[in-house]
Amino acid sequence: MLGVLTGIGGYLPPTVVTNDDLCSTLDTSDEWIVARTGIRERRKVADGASTRDLAVEAGKRALRSAERTTVDAVVLATTSFDRLCPAVAPEVAHLLGLDTVAAFDLTSACSGFLYGLATCNGLIATGVADSVLFIGAEAFTTLVDPDDRNTAPIFGDGAGAVVLRRGEPEEPGALGGFDLGSDGARADLLAIPAGGSRQRSAVGLGFAEVPTNEWYLQMAGRPLYTQAVERMSASSRRALKDADWAVADVDLFVGHQANVRIVQAVAEELGLPQEKVAVNIDRVGNTLAASIPLLLNDCVDRGQLRAGDRVLLSAFGAGLSWGSTTLVWPDVPVETVH
Ligand code: COA
Repeated sequence: MLGVLTGIGGYLPPTVVTNDDLCSTLDTSDEWIVARTGIRERRKVADGASTRDLAVEAGKRALRSAERTTVDAVVLATTSFDRLCPAVAPEVAHLLGLDTVAAFDLTSACSGFLYGLATCNGLIATGVADSVLFIGAEAFTTLVDPDDRNTAPIFGDGAGAVVLRRGEPEEPGALGGFDLGSDGARADLLAIPAGGSRQRSAVGLGFAEVPTNEWYLQMAGRPLYTQAVERMSASSRRALKDADWAVADVDLFVGHQANVRIVQAVAEELGLPQEKVAVNIDRVGNTLAASIPLLLNDCVDRGQLRAGDRVLLSAFGAGLSWGSTTLVWPDVPVETVH
């Protein structure tokens, strides 16, 4: 017994921030951002709204897609918590009318969707839950310095969700084996230094003394880029081997959307033709844990992903952390994510 994908949904907050919008306050250009990242626009959470609100909307759509009103557990992957404590998932479960089901958050930045799928698969395989609503949701723009041209163009807000149920390995939608990995020696390449126990326990350091930029994301783009291509390529190969698929068996490569050049480079490394590379970063930017479910939803919606297609999923992010898996796409309805 293992997890079988049986529903999917996504949600983007309505506020669109174009590259030209960013140019009004940052020393950058539409040409630079498009050429270096592939991003044309991204979404921004409304003032006063948070990850919870995005998660609830995506969760509703995934439950509708699965034609379910109940699940045994809600798992939320995010790196942009509403508050340091408590977890967001119990409130999301409550707002979805799911009563007192098991609910918790997990954090693995941009690889959160892969780590979360593996965790949900484990809950199902061990009999803890027969069905799980798994949401990746991020209001990450709230953690990015609007005056930093290195990071402000890259990230966007949004949420994507899937419903998993107990099933058999040969069913369409059954999750394949997982390849997961991490490299904590490179933890500082992408980090938000302030707000956690390390900064709070620093002797004599009051909140007023924390340099402003430490409240925001700090990112070393170049080394991350190299790591992303290397780690996603190697991890994808291991997941394909586990599934006993050749590269030519893959119909669609759904890689985390951090930079269009990263997923294109991974495809090149693997020997996959570029037409098999799924892309929606142009309209959403990097939405961390929400990236892969939003992309899957878009691909089904535009007819690029059909029931029976063989899909390779791979993600890489802060930690460093990465993960990959495979699945044969099931016949699930989707709603357009506007
Ligand atoms: N607009 C214009 N110029 C910019 C800019 C912007 N928004 N951001 C950086 N630049 C400049 C730099 O200052 C630098 O100028 P210099 O050559 O005069 O020093 C030049 O562009 C090149 O900067 P660099 O950071 O080397 O660019 P890059 O080609 O590596 O692209 C990223 C930057 C961030 C797009 C790219 O490194 C990347 O995508 N990295 C991975 C990030 C990632 O995956 N993060 C999340 C992990 S999931």
